[in-house]
Amino acid sequence: MKTMQLRLHVNGEPKHWTIAPGDLLLDVLRREGYFGVKRGCETGECGACTVLVDGKPINSCLMFAARAEGSEVLTIEGVAHGDTLDPIQEAFLDHGAVQCGYCTPGMILNAKALLTRRPDPSEAEVREVLAGNLCRCTGYKKPVEAVLAAAQAAGKGAAR
Ligand code: FES
Ligand code: FES
Repeated sequence: MKTMQLRLHVNGEPKHWTIAPGDLLLDVLRREGYFGVKRGCETGECGACTVLVDGKPINSCLMFAARAEGSEVLTIEGVAHGDTLDPIQEAFLDHGAVQCGYCTPGMILNAKALLTRRPDPSEAEVREVLAGNLCRCTGYKKPVEAVLAAAQAAGKGAAR
């Protein structure tokens, strides 16, 4: 089988992996132990496989791993800081926004990208972003509340 080398950073750590040219980023990340990257539809519809590549949310089931050469990839495993959860993760727990949890990594990564870009989003903006993450459990009300609460908490923190 033809192989190639892939160099990138995942959650801030340098990685050097041997991959096949046709490998998808979803498959490579899971093969390397990043099981928070969930396999769902594999057709770009459900958002379960969302990761951030250079800060932008992408469906890793649609991206060739080779295209991540030189990139900074963030998976859910890299969102907390040691034992301290990210404020968005805290807000999801506080608001009961996690049920089975399958969609949660993708939702949190999309929310993180949104709050980086728009620290004070409207409810409509949050709903629009989370619409790309299919959830069969929560009905979206609680995740939307959680993201808005995280934004508000971050705003208060900045104002102090
Ligand atoms: S598994 Fe990638 S969008 Fe569904
Ligand atoms: S919490 Fe179960 S799919 Fe969203």
